[in-house]
Amino acid sequence: MAYERTELPRAQIEAQEAVAHRIAARFAAEGRRPLALVDTYGCQQNESDSERIRGYLAEMGCGFTDDEFAADIIVVNTCAVREHAEQRVLGNVGALNHTKKAKPGQIIALCGCMVQQQHMAERVKRSYPIVNLVFGPHELWRFPELLERVFNERKRVFAVDESAGTVTEGVPRRRDGRVKAWLSVMYGCNNFCTYCVVPYVRGRERSRRPEEIVAEARELVAAGYRDITLLGQNVNSYGRDLGSGTDFADLLRMLNGIPGKFILRFMTSHPKDATEKLFRAMAECEKCAHHLHLPVQAGSDRVLRAMNRGYTAAEYLEKVALARQYMPDLALTTDIIVGFPGETEDEFAETLRLVETVRYDSMFTFLYSPRVGTVAAGLPDPRSKADKQRSFDALVALATEISSQRHAALVGQTLEVLADGYDPEADWPLSARTRNGRLVHLRGGDASLLGQFFPARITGSSSWSLFGESAIG
Ligand code: 5AD
Ligand code: SF4
Repeated sequence: MAYERTELPRAQIEAQEAVAHRIAARFAAEGRRPLALVDTYGCQQNESDSERIRGYLAEMGCGFTDDEFAADIIVVNTCAVREHAEQRVLGNVGALNHTKKAKPGQIIALCGCMVQQQHMAERVKRSYPIVNLVFGPHELWRFPELLERVFNERKRVFAVDESAGTVTEGVPRRRDGRVKAWLSVMYGCNNFCTYCVVPYVRGRERSRRPEEIVAEARELVAAGYRDITLLGQNVNSYGRDLGSGTDFADLLRMLNGIPGKFILRFMTSHPKDATEKLFRAMAECEKCAHHLHLPVQAGSDRVLRAMNRGYTAAEYLEKVALARQYMPDLALTTDIIVGFPGETEDEFAETLRLVETVRYDSMFTFLYSPRVGTVAAGLPDPRSKADKQRSFDALVALATEISSQRHAALVGQTLEVLADGYDPEADWPLSARTRNGRLVHLRGGDASLLGQFFPARITGSSSWSLFGESAIG
């Protein structure tokens, strides 16, 4: 592929920070501390991007609010992966007409994957005049400059040029949590699964240098974070573009070598690139969660081929068996698309059979949604919506039954957990995760356990989570 990995010079980010400080000075001179609201749709990569937008906003001197009527600046970070996500964004942006009427100086910005699509940027330009600023994922690093242009030029700014993307280091970040942290290891995707819009909006695969990732992980651990999730669309191809020979399994071992007690998680793994070397590293690294999110998407070989997934159902099952050999306690989760164009009822039945064979701990199921510009959007799609919905319901029922059974099998055990949330009003005030990522609602502990590892006795279960008591003392 004719693509050269480009890293943005740090000086460029420093220049953006200078712009952010200039904006802060301007607000200060006006004697006000504006409030910002960042609303995030979609995946963890978007959550992570929103932390960078908040980082810049904090440098501009903004405070933060959840109230759309109180906000001076609203940034909506959008998702394009399915039509439903886009409709929700457009509905909510439409509703901002009221807030803008009540507060005419309010700045409304749209960013992220949805607006990186030309047809969507144009639709926003045409039909949503309340939106002042639109920028795609490739332009996030220059958000201060774009916002300053909105202030200075008093006209709408659109920055959604097509781009293969760069690697940007040093953008400030305001993290959401205290215990859990996102850590991007790479951006973009090269796979071009035929249903997926991601490669078009997020650009080509590009990896951060391992030194940068290790340095950020060290800072996170020093700052008290205990649960680090490495992010990439396809972490298993990490490092290919670096040309240094370091792959994702090597990166895991480097991160595992950082002193301190913490858990390393990662997502997402593409089955075609999941290797024995990775499973061995996961099994041998004591900090690495025994959890694989391994999206299978479909159980029929014909459909997998039409999706351009690069594996057969049998090859997928072999990988699962190998991973379980290395990690008998492995938690396995997946994504499945129901109703890919041309998928027949018999082919869908193969998905059900695969699910029964693997018995996932949990599953994310989606009805196929045509995406503009993708190959699948041009395929004949004769199956009716009602038929697809029936298949979808059958899959959800099976997934729920299997997860319930797998969770119930853990009742009576004592498992080590890490507490990451506390709500004194709730029936089960503490929320925690097991090492392999299962959610546990706990009684018998308080906020002092946040960020702590401790044993929990599992006393109950549902299809989604476990219930238990802290078993300290
Ligand atoms: N329609 C439905 N689901 C999709 N996904 C990606 N693209 C589509 C689409 N066009 C699902 C896949 C992917 C998850 C993040 O979203 O299952 O793994
Ligand atoms: Fe989309 Fe496939 Fe890339 Fe995942 S691996 S982001 S499904 S193209």
